[in-house]
Amino acid sequence: MHALEVITKKRDGGELSKEEIEFFVRRYTTDQIPDYQAAAWLMALFLRGMTERETYDLTLAMAHSGRTLDMRDVAPTTEAGEKLLVVDKHSTGGVGDKVSLILAPLVAACGVPMAKMTGRGLGFTGGTVDKLESIPGYRTDLSVDAFKAQVREIGVALSGQTIDLAPADRKLYALRDATATVESIPLIVSSIMSKKLAAGADAIVLDVKVGTGAFMETADDAERLAQALVRLGKEARREVVALIADMNQPLGRAVGNALEVREAIDTLHDAGPRGLRQHCLTIAAEVLCLSRRVETRRDALTLALETLSSGAAWQKFRQMVEAQGGDVSCVDDPDGLPQAAIVEAVPAPRSGYLAGLDAAEVGLAVVGLGGGREEMGQPIDHSVGVLVHHRVGDAVREGVPLFTVHANDQEKLETACERVLRAHAFSNESVRPLPLFYKRIPEQ
Ligand code: URA
Repeated sequence: MHALEVITKKRDGGELSKEEIEFFVRRYTTDQIPDYQAAAWLMALFLRGMTERETYDLTLAMAHSGRTLDMRDVAPTTEAGEKLLVVDKHSTGGVGDKVSLILAPLVAACGVPMAKMTGRGLGFTGGTVDKLESIPGYRTDLSVDAFKAQVREIGVALSGQTIDLAPADRKLYALRDATATVESIPLIVSSIMSKKLAAGADAIVLDVKVGTGAFMETADDAERLAQALVRLGKEARREVVALIADMNQPLGRAVGNALEVREAIDTLHDAGPRGLRQHCLTIAAEVLCLSRRVETRRDALTLALETLSSGAAWQKFRQMVEAQGGDVSCVDDPDGLPQAAIVEAVPAPRSGYLAGLDAAEVGLAVVGLGGGREEMGQPIDHSVGVLVHHRVGDAVREGVPLFTVHANDQEKLETACERVLRAHAFSNESVRPLPLFYKRIPEQ
């Protein structure tokens, strides 16, 4: 078999066999197929699409391209003698998405272990690893053994993906990002699910974002993606629930690494933005139900709410930071997190109702400030970012602070101010607030 034959077959609209897909993934992962051929293959997959069977075979080939974890031994046993299921959560990526920072300790404090491997930001979307690295000393490079030992000991670990877990996805994802082949449903499905299967989850909650700040911009596309993810999970004998969530405006108020950590800390103190808190509680309830910790979503929500209000989730976060070498004094007093030299509030240019707050534009403004990457591997500035002070639907008076920019460079500050101002649209008529979630799949 030759790489060229496999590329040609897909280019001409053929259906690839399991063997052809496995061959290509194995050879590419071990550097026996060059990037230029893999780029051509990805473009052929992007343009010609993939059947469900091909997508499944690609997912499994990627999941088995490196080490696979067995997390059953970290799952606790209930009083009734049953093992809880190991549940993972994945977001398809967005702007201001700091949910994992809150969710992982919250769920762990409810008695369900959360062993979450997470990624870096790319493009205008942020990444949990970058956010965590705003905490001085916090280690995101735990070995698999240290990762599992920590979950066994304190019930939670949030770390970067180990180098040998689904390495095919790491290579292919970087190539997709450089070849305009990211926004393909089969490629997104195989990328996400290969990582989740390799990480050993029995059940998965997917936070599928839709809107200007997401890979899926329309409700139809987001639903097609969510349905495909759930179907693939079922095929792989995993329980999967997908929630389609709004990403037309940033999630919460903060966009930028240290600012988002601060907002996550506020939320763990039960004092964060209402929408973000509700978003985290909703996902937590799904995780608690899937794990079998509680039976109904209502009980799960009550448990999650109590755990947040009692401070137990915050204590778990603190414990996690300490266990991973982070400076706890910086989370006890977030003024110790990296801070930008220039902080400028921008007033609303007019009165009216906020009709739009383009999440992608805010994300790109933060990248421009140095808070995100334009290329893989670029260093980032954890201190910079944007705080938006209003949500779509709010009545805004001229002159009140509309948003605040945290910057370390005057020119970049000015560019960001202009960009974020343009991201705000006003209307004279009242505007409906955006929902947090649009749909649950499966529906019930
Ligand atoms: N998140 C992933 O992990 N992979 C994708 O392809 C898109 C979002």
